[in-house]
Amino acid sequence: MTAPHHAQAPTARRHLFVTTALPYANGRFHLGHMMEYIQADIWVRFQRMQGHAVHWMCADDTHGAPIMIAAEKAGKTPQEFVAEIAATRRAYLDGFHLSIDNWYSTDSPENTALAQDIYRKLKAAGFIASKTIEQFFDPVKAMFLPDRYIKGECPKCGAQEQFGDACESCGAVYAPTDLKNPRSTLSGATPEMRSSEHFFFKLSDPQCVEFLRDWTEGLDRHGRKRLQSEIIAKTKEWLGEDGKLGDWDISRDAPYFGIPIPDAPGKYFYVWLDAPIGYLASLKHYFDSGKAAAKGEARSVTEFLSDPATEQIHFIGKDIVYFHVLFWPAMLKFAGYKVPDSVNVHGFITVGGEKMSKSRGTGIDPLKYLTIGMNPEWLRYYIAAKLNANVEDVDFTAEDFLARVNADLIGKFVNIASRCAGFISKRFDGRLGDSLDADAEPLLRSTEAVAHDVAAYYETREFGKAVRRIMELADAANQYVDRRAPWLLAKDPGKADELHRVCSTALTLFRHLSVMLAPVLPRLADDVATLLALPLDRWGGFAEALPSGHRIRPYTHLMARVEERHLDELLGLLPEPSVAKPVAAPKSATTAKPAPAVPDGCLTIDDFAKIDLRIAKIVNAEHVEGSDKLLRLTLDVGETDAQGAPRLRNVFSGIKSAYAPEQLIGQHTVLVANLAPRKMKFGLSEGMVLAASDKDDDNAHGLYLLNPHSGARAGMKVT
Ligand code: MSP
Ligand code: ZN
Repeated sequence: MTAPHHAQAPTARRHLFVTTALPYANGRFHLGHMMEYIQADIWVRFQRMQGHAVHWMCADDTHGAPIMIAAEKAGKTPQEFVAEIAATRRAYLDGFHLSIDNWYSTDSPENTALAQDIYRKLKAAGFIASKTIEQFFDPVKAMFLPDRYIKGECPKCGAQEQFGDACESCGAVYAPTDLKNPRSTLSGATPEMRSSEHFFFKLSDPQCVEFLRDWTEGLDRHGRKRLQSEIIAKTKEWLGEDGKLGDWDISRDAPYFGIPIPDAPGKYFYVWLDAPIGYLASLKHYFDSGKAAAKGEARSVTEFLSDPATEQIHFIGKDIVYFHVLFWPAMLKFAGYKVPDSVNVHGFITVGGEKMSKSRGTGIDPLKYLTIGMNPEWLRYYIAAKLNANVEDVDFTAEDFLARVNADLIGKFVNIASRCAGFISKRFDGRLGDSLDADAEPLLRSTEAVAHDVAAYYETREFGKAVRRIMELADAANQYVDRRAPWLLAKDPGKADELHRVCSTALTLFRHLSVMLAPVLPRLADDVATLLALPLDRWGGFAEALPSGHRIRPYTHLMARVEERHLDELLGLLPEPSVAKPVAAPKSATTAKPAPAVPDGCLTIDDFAKIDLRIAKIVNAEHVEGSDKLLRLTLDVGETDAQGAPRLRNVFSGIKSAYAPEQLIGQHTVLVANLAPRKMKFGLSEGMVLAASDKDDDNAHGLYLLNPHSGARAGMKVT
């Protein structure tokens, strides 16, 4: 029995220019970035499976004061600094199967040209104003200070160490100039008021307000709201009844890492002006470098963008809405560029209910996730299952992750193939039967309707609903397999035909499920395509049977289960001790809680805390007369004597075989700072520096002094 073929209604081929927010180039990716890219990737892959042309652009957001200052601290040029971050991107993007078509940079000739062009056009159209403003200036650093680099006492409650915009203690909101005893956090200097000419984008222009009211509340070409309802509500607030929008300050004074403003020496575009233009710069680079042509888009970037059929769609997080639904469309509109079709906003991912911190401690490192051997598609599935089209946060919890992935992906989906494919290989020479099981007819017939719903859910970013609908079908397919029990049929030689039919039917259902899951699980879908010896990269075929007599490949395991140890390792939890042996409580601990059991050979965190590890700067290194093993190191560990003069340490280290003294001077390393001083033949050694080697003896060639990453400074504690 072969289900009748239904031709799919032809839909015009869409041409989609898709972007995800450009990450700041001052840090590596975190889980939040991965969530945004996974969301966009699922949508993009779904569109491609529908036969639409998608060009997904991203780039590093490189400019601005924080990056300039971080680079300076690291002793690098901003260009070197951002290049180092850019070099880390690939491992994450490939690792999580993110099908971004071009990764570029806002610090590029294309972006400079585009930003200057947009500015010139805005100016010519009368949307740029200039005004002299007063601002804090750091006389030591010789630069105007962004608010975040000014601290002082709250003008209202007197709390110390408050930032220039609001008091964390009493909640008062003020201008940085209201702070008492303000100081620059960059130099410690007292800032001075200075005036400077700034350029403004006239957002308050009535034409602009009117355009934004229409645009934000409008529908896209498919008759859907271009913004989510929550976002529309916010824009209504921002736009107010009588246009509460203020003009937008788009200029910054030198020194600034950014794009020069034409005809205004010493003035640069504020980073948020050139950042979204980076979407267009990436697109231009993609076309001009021939990558678009390689993907079948033969037109020029200008032709592509000026074609009204091209849809421009942005994916962003909830913290950068203002920039993307007010500044960005207005800039494009009044500079005569294409205006976005829609902006899709997602919430934040939290871990165990906690906000992610960029510093260490909380959060999940996506690269660690990969390096400890966790399957990227587990995370893709988990995020898909939790996402909807609203601006809601998504919480990652270890238990939930483990339960969902194992129960759904392994227990429901993979299970169908693992129970049926083997019989086809072993009993039928890998060939599918030429008829399907009449018992499964209603189920087979239902797949088309399921796929129809799932497609609508993918289209509208209701991924949680899509996944649920697919898993309902997987449940039904499993119930079918349970009912027909191929393992029992296999025991009766007289039921070979029936076994053949049942397994072929189950694999047909498995094929349909794999196609529906392919946007979420592209690698697994590839493996299924190999198993079934059929392409699965097109959405459709849900009413069709697999070709009779078609030969599949032998079943190999498709996906492993998540194990608790993965999550323990990912979250940095210690593995459960296998043998717990109580240790005697220290004598002084009479009032303290009983010491927890510590396995043999382990330290408690308190034991570890006794070791004072410090970053040491090697200010001098020299040979030691009469020793063929030792070097004498003079170390700065950030200590001072009673008079406040720097106190340096003398340490003898057995690293002469591996280093010449001059190689070491100026380097940073790690010192055990509270090791009891040791009187040696050559003098007193005040601590021990740490080195790695694969032998116990220290005259080996493979001896490597530990070196912290750049940014660590003398005296920092190593924990
Ligand atoms: N550089 C700006 C964007 C410029 S776009 C022209 C920026 N960079 S970012 O690195 O801070 O954030 C990049 C994207 O990651 C943003 O869309 C942001 O909302 C998103 N996320 C940052 N933290 C996040 C979570 N915890 N969860 C989900 N997305 C998060 O903003
Ligand atoms: Zn206060």
